[in-house]
Amino acid sequence: MNILEIIEKKKNKEALSQKEIEFFVDGYTKNKIPDYQMSALLMTIVINGMNDVETAYLTEAMMNSGKKINLSSIKGIKVDKHSTGGVGDKVSLVLGPIVAACGAVFAKMSGRGLGYTGGTIDKLESIEGFNCFLNEQQFKFLLKKSNIAIIGQTDNLVPADKKIYALRDVSGTVNSLPLITSSIMSKKLSTGSDAILLDVKCGSGAFMKNINEAKQLARWMINIGKKLKKDVRAEITNMEQPLGRMIGNKNEIIEVIESLKGNGDKKFMELIYSSATTLLIQAKIVKNEKEACKLIEEVIKSGKAFNKFLELIENQGGNIELIQKTNWWKPKYKLEINATKSGYLYLKNSVILGLVAVKLGAGRNKKEDIIDNEAGIELKKVTNEKVQKNEILMVLYSSKPIDKNLSNEVKKTFEINQKPKNNKIILAKME
Ligand code: URA
Repeated sequence: MNILEIIEKKKNKEALSQKEIEFFVDGYTKNKIPDYQMSALLMTIVINGMNDVETAYLTEAMMNSGKKINLSSIKGIKVDKHSTGGVGDKVSLVLGPIVAACGAVFAKMSGRGLGYTGGTIDKLESIEGFNCFLNEQQFKFLLKKSNIAIIGQTDNLVPADKKIYALRDVSGTVNSLPLITSSIMSKKLSTGSDAILLDVKCGSGAFMKNINEAKQLARWMINIGKKLKKDVRAEITNMEQPLGRMIGNKNEIIEVIESLKGNGDKKFMELIYSSATTLLIQAKIVKNEKEACKLIEEVIKSGKAFNKFLELIENQGGNIELIQKTNWWKPKYKLEINATKSGYLYLKNSVILGLVAVKLGAGRNKKEDIIDNEAGIELKKVTNEKVQKNEILMVLYSSKPIDKNLSNEVKKTFEINQKPKNNKIILAKME
């Protein structure tokens, strides 16, 4: 078999066989196929696509490129959740402890921030001592002990995706349904969960800019899951505006704590209740939405969900005394953004807020950049809240002096209207 023949075949819009797909995934992972040939092939896939059968073969070949975690020794249905990436997206850190406190096993592999989207691993690492890089034995031990563990992607899990994703990032080949589907699903399927909930973000702050694109991606991922005998469901959620009231790292952990104590932002908690309900139904802990909501409410009110979060942090080496101190988050500099008139606030263009957060130091421009855990944004007001002229709408924070010109960028992320606007967070649910 020859890589040039495979490129030629895809260039002529022909479907590739399982053997051909395995050949190029294996060859590239083992450095037998050079970057220039692989990027030519990726570009033909972006342009000419792949059918669902090819995409399933690609997902399997990538999944089999490294070690897979086998969770069959752990009792019960193991659930996982994946977000396609958002701004202020701390959902897993609230959702995981809630479903684990309800009795489900939350076995999660998370990533670092990518561009303007924050990463769960970065947020967790803002906690002194927290270790995401557990081996399989430690991961399973904690799942058995506490029903919850969160790990980062190690080098031996789906190495094909690590290499291919890095090449896609620099060769204009990220935006492709079969490539995104296989990238996400190969990672999700390699960690051995039985049920997966996909949070497909939609809007200006997401890969998928409109509902039809988002639904199409969700459908492809659900179908791949079905082919590989997993219960995969999806929610399409609004990423026109950030999630919750904090964007950053330490400040998002503080919001997680408040949310688990029952003081979460209303819209954010709507998403948490919806996702937790689906996961609890997938885990067969409850039969319907009503039972799920009752149980979720109970674990929040009783403190069980918050205690489960502390258990997760402590299990993985994090300092739980420190994060509960009121002076844990202490940014040195701040810049307040005020309302230019009175009315109802509407937040939009969350991508700009994500980029401003990166400029403040909360994310990376290059892989080697070091995150400033104090940096971030606090939304004092959110969509459809009434604001008065000159009232503080949001505050930017950093350990370094803040460029005043950032306020001009931030002003593109909101409008103040005479009436509230339609504002849905969950746009669709699919299975
Ligand atoms: N997230 C991934 O992990 N892979 C993609 O291709 C896109 C988003």
